Amino acid sequence: MSIPFVTLNNGISMPQLGLGLYAPKQQNEVKQSVLDALDLGIRLIDSAAIYGNEQEVGQGIVASGVTRKDLFVTSKVWMDDMGYDATLHAFDKTLNDLGVEYLDLYLIHWPKDTARKETWKALESLYEQKLCRSIGVSNYYKKHLEELFLHANICPAVNQFELSPFCYMPEELAFNQEHGIQVEGYAPLVRGWKKDDSVLNEIATHYGKSTYQLLVRWNIELGAVTIPKSVKRARIQENMDVFDFHISTDDMKQLSQLFDNTRVAWDPRDF
Ligand SMILES: NC(=O)c1ccc[n+]([C@@H]2O[C@H](COP(=O)([O-])OP(=O)(O)OC[C@H]3O[C@@H](n4cnc5c(N)ncnc54)[C@H](OP(=O)(O)O)[C@@H]3O)[C@@H](O)[C@H]2O)c1
Repeated sequence: MSIPFVTLNNGISMPQLGLGLYAPKQQNEVKQSVLDALDLGIRLIDSAAIYGNEQEVGQGIVASGVTRKDLFVTSKVWMDDMGYDATLHAFDKTLNDLGVEYLDLYLIHWPKDTARKETWKALESLYEQKLCRSIGVSNYYKKHLEELFLHANICPAVNQFELSPFCYMPEELAFNQEHGIQVEGYAPLVRGWKKDDSVLNEIATHYGKSTYQLLVRWNIELGAVTIPKSVKRARIQENMDVFDFHISTDDMKQLSQLFDNTRVAWDPRDF
């Protein structure tokens, strides 16, 4: 089954499922995983300068032969590169490393307090120059967005933050939805840390799916874009095989009660 699209607040389409690319261990693993994912039909690539693999991602894109306009390429400006000029510079490096002429989505990776306003101005400028088809933020909770609304000329199209039943803050999701900001959930698989959870296993068995597939589908049911990471072809395929079932309302409720604040990354409330 093909991957559906969501429409962002500026009218552009974004695939609802993509490939995460954080922390590969071996060289060429990432190039191959991009190739595999594109071959399997994934079109959204979730890159970031800090992952240190944008050149390899670019090689995978070229080798795939997929037309640039059919791809949705995301990257993020890291904390060390925040501020107006530094962000523009980091963006140039990202484009160069990825070997592309524009990004589909550029995000502020974390809301580092001292520089986040100027960084957003830089992203607005990149958007106005049509070097990014959309701009957004990552790890922004309500307090960061409220601050951004006070000075922004452009509303973020996307907010990427950690989203799994174990890290589910419904009020954060609702706030983004109320403001027309597409939520993109990261670490949907909780890096496999919860694979033995009994509730997950019971519900996944009921649908004839793996716990990994259940977690990906849980993000989809909430209307989020999701970016499970794997460098293994069979797992990439498994993680995208989630469009032939629905999780019932009762099971969604049960899953949403698994919240225990397990996070693979920092808590945005500390920023
Ligand atoms: N904006 C941010 O601050 C931020 C923070 C964290 C992550 N992200 C993004 O979100 C993406 C996903 O998050 P994540 O990489 O942290 O964690 P994740 O997607 O929740 O989990 C990835 C881990 O699960 C394993 N895995 C994947 N599919 C599996 C399967 N079907 N069966 C068994 N194991 C499986 C992977 O191993 P193998 O690769 O060996 O298969 C990897 O160790 C990242 O890659 C990155 O693009 C963004």
